[in-house]
Amino acid sequence: MTTTEQDRVLEAAEAYARAELGGDVTGHDWWHIHRVVRMARHLAGREGADVFVCALAALLHDVADEKLNDSKESGMRKVEDWLAGQPAREEDRAHVVEIIANMSYNGGANPPMRTLEGQVVQDADRLDAIGAIAVARAFVYAGWKGSPIYDPALPPRESMTPEEYRNGKSTAINHFHEKLLKLKDRINTPSAKAIAEERHAYMAAYVERFMSEWDGIGE
Ligand code: ADP
Ligand code: NI
Repeated sequence: MTTTEQDRVLEAAEAYARAELGGDVTGHDWWHIHRVVRMARHLAGREGADVFVCALAALLHDVADEKLNDSKESGMRKVEDWLAGQPAREEDRAHVVEIIANMSYNGGANPPMRTLEGQVVQDADRLDAIGAIAVARAFVYAGWKGSPIYDPALPPRESMTPEEYRNGKSTAINHFHEKLLKLKDRINTPSAKAIAEERHAYMAAYVERFMSEWDGIGE
């Protein structure tokens, strides 16, 4: 494929992702995608990954999200069908599908990404969940779910059943401990790791400050 052909596929993917995610308020809005694509391109350049595959997977990575579809499977089918209509190499299309299918955190239980391109896109998505923007996203998500910012009366996560936890008996602050503060140790590439460490320190300091204001006068 020539660069122009690749650019055309990327433009089409952008239009598709914008149409699918434009109105989303759950943290998968278009600007999340925009940030992930930009970061994926940056990391791909530094790590020597295929920029076209990374950018395409980043553009499409949340179209299949189960929160926006009947199921993960129907979401994946939608992405596969869309890709089948694009003049990209079969090999690249299959690679992008594989990356998107394996992106999610899943409590840290998913197998590691097989390819460098997959590692880059996963890192770019995870970096958007660490740092100042991530703080905003966590509170917006909690608000959308109807969960409180924090609630000292709620039992710790360890003593909840998985069902209680899924039913939203959680808080935004809980989500930092549950997931966001663990992400920096699940970063794949050295370039992303450096950014993650710095963003993590900011976010950890934020949570500490939140708790000290909660418990007293915040000094
Ligand atoms: P992604 O994999 O694209 O980062 P997620 O679906 O895991 O997306 O989450 C979207 C955003 O909402 C992320 O910033 C995430 O941290 C936040 N989020 C997800 N679940 C919760 C939750 N239970 N409480 C607060 N924020 C959440
Ligand atoms: Ni995402």
